[in-house]
Amino acid sequence: MSVIARSLAKSYDGVIAVDGIDLDVRSGSVFGFLGPNGAGKSTTIKLLTTLVPPTSGNIEILGINAVKHPLEVRKRIGVVLQQPSYEPNLSVEKSLEKYGMMWNVERKTRIDRTEELIDVFDLGEIRKRKNEDLSIGQRRRVQVAREFMHDMDLLFLDEPTVGLDPSARRRLLDFLKNKAKTGLTIFYTTHVLTEAEYLCDEIAVLNRGRILAVDTPEQLKNTFGQQKTIKIRLSERHHELADLVHGIPDCTIRFDTGTDIIIQSSKSELVLSQILQILIENNITVEDLSAMPTTLEEIFLKMVDTHASDS
Ligand SMILES: Nc1ncnc2c1ncn2[C@@H]1O[C@H](COP(=O)(O)OP(=O)(O)OP(=O)(O)O)[C@@H](O)[C@H]1O
Ligand SMILES: [Mg+2]
Repeated sequence: MSVIARSLAKSYDGVIAVDGIDLDVRSGSVFGFLGPNGAGKSTTIKLLTTLVPPTSGNIEILGINAVKHPLEVRKRIGVVLQQPSYEPNLSVEKSLEKYGMMWNVERKTRIDRTEELIDVFDLGEIRKRKNEDLSIGQRRRVQVAREFMHDMDLLFLDEPTVGLDPSARRRLLDFLKNKAKTGLTIFYTTHVLTEAEYLCDEIAVLNRGRILAVDTPEQLKNTFGQQKTIKIRLSERHHELADLVHGIPDCTIRFDTGTDIIIQSSKSELVLSQILQILIENNITVEDLSAMPTTLEEIFLKMVDTHASDS
């Protein structure tokens, strides 16, 4: 295990940001950390990277007690925090170079890596440009790229793809996937479910400082996603349809405008045939009808939603 946390908690002046979480991140895996705004993702990253001390709990990073030996941990990890960090007056290539120097990377390696990263992160055209003159997405790319100037066993990335366009995003994800294949362990936070699904071996869902579920993307979908989403669009408004559908067992109405109705069910075949029957019996004309597997995104929203209304 590259990361082990037990009963990890952090409060800021009475605000509980992380509320007693356990984590086990296998070495060489990509671990996705997902949750809505304010869930405690960034706080967890700061705890695991020794940037803030925990209120209570234990952290072991690469076999080192991180609370007792923060400096030893920091030497062996990489971190890209959520907030921007750059030196305004340095050019892109100089900032990579300088970051390498800070990490005592030898000259030849530094030069090779700078070139490689300029290529991978598509920074060629802007390599001489000062960081302060970059666009937000370009700056973020430089911030992520420079972290790869040094060797590390474990990398923490806090929403690295925010501000990146689709092709830059895909490039980064593929680069990370390859890095993971060479043995790098990656702890990755995101709001983008499709991204987590593409990249991560395991996903933990965090809400209000607590972990709601940890599993592989496939298992999460199996456990929570037996459900299908049925979408009905009517040619005219029929508010009575919702009431009629309501009577069908194992059928939850998620959305209803009278013309657009979204239903979730784990027995969708049965539900569909009953809906069709209702539509025919009541002479309701359908413009569109579809049944689709519930996506990870829907599962996530449901999980977070359910737990929000619990408290
Ligand atoms: N330095 C701080 N002082 C006081 N409260 C803080 C501090 N840092 C974080 N918090 C609070 O802790 C909670 C968790 O914040 P955190 O930044 O970890 O969330 P997050 O999951 O990273 O959210 P986002 O998706 O918006 O980045 C929030 O309620 C936040 O307001
Ligand atoms: Mg955050």
